[in-house]
Amino acid sequence: MAEYPEIPRHVAIIMDGNGRWAKERGLPRLQGHRAGAESVREVMEACIELGVEYLTLYAFSSENWSRPEKEVMALMGLLDRFLDEKAKDLDRQNVRLLAIGQLDRLPLKTRKLLERIQERTAGHTTLTLVLAVSYGSREEIIQAARSLATDAAAGTLKPADIDAELFASRLQTAGIPDPDLLVRTSGEMRISNFLLWQISYSEIVIVKKFWPDFRQGDLFETVKEYQRRHRRFGAL
Ligand code: IPE
Ligand code: IPE
Ligand code: MG
Repeated sequence: MAEYPEIPRHVAIIMDGNGRWAKERGLPRLQGHRAGAESVREVMEACIELGVEYLTLYAFSSENWSRPEKEVMALMGLLDRFLDEKAKDLDRQNVRLLAIGQLDRLPLKTRKLLERIQERTAGHTTLTLVLAVSYGSREEIIQAARSLATDAAAGTLKPADIDAELFASRLQTAGIPDPDLLVRTSGEMRISNFLLWQISYSEIVIVKKFWPDFRQGDLFETVKEYQRRHRRFGAL
């Protein structure tokens, strides 16, 4: 699209504000999470239209396990439903699904669904949808460090050979380019343990709207904002 001269290759989104969206309407928090699913659908379509190659969505953090069990279970149920309903669309839209996070903490049903859809969509090429579920960046970095340390202790890796490229290859995002654009909704100015390594040079756009109010047009606006930025990567 000529209107969008430089499309971010990778957009990552912290989908925040579902609970406040519901509270404003006097609804239970779950209704906010439910309404947020429609935003996911719109944002995926917008990314496909723009030619974005990777879309990473922060759906559930490691820390979110500490929410009341009722909310956690409801979120898992919504995730199952989303995956069940989306599986066919992903095929139709040629979208590949990848899941990152501590997936072994998820209910078996959710894990199986994720595995099945990942396998089924592995060859799709239009967009890669990366779902961050039960995801925590510190845990991911620790796991990478542990895997390098294991190799070093076994004598198959020299500590001096560890560089940024090798380190990144041990993260769950191995092979995925770093996000160009990081969006967080609901006006909160924090990262909340999301992709700490990968966002070193991402452009950050904070949007005031709550996630369930975030629509295609809002995604286009964030991309326009991204295009007005001058990325320097430490140089001039
Ligand atoms: C984001 O909305 C969804 C998840 C973290 C799972 P919240 O549930 O954090 O909603 P707020 O931030 O309390 O409004
Ligand atoms: C971050 O939102 C996690 C997700 C959007 C999945 P939170 O609502 O959990 O973050 P904090 O607690 O406000 O930092
Ligand atoms: Mg929140």
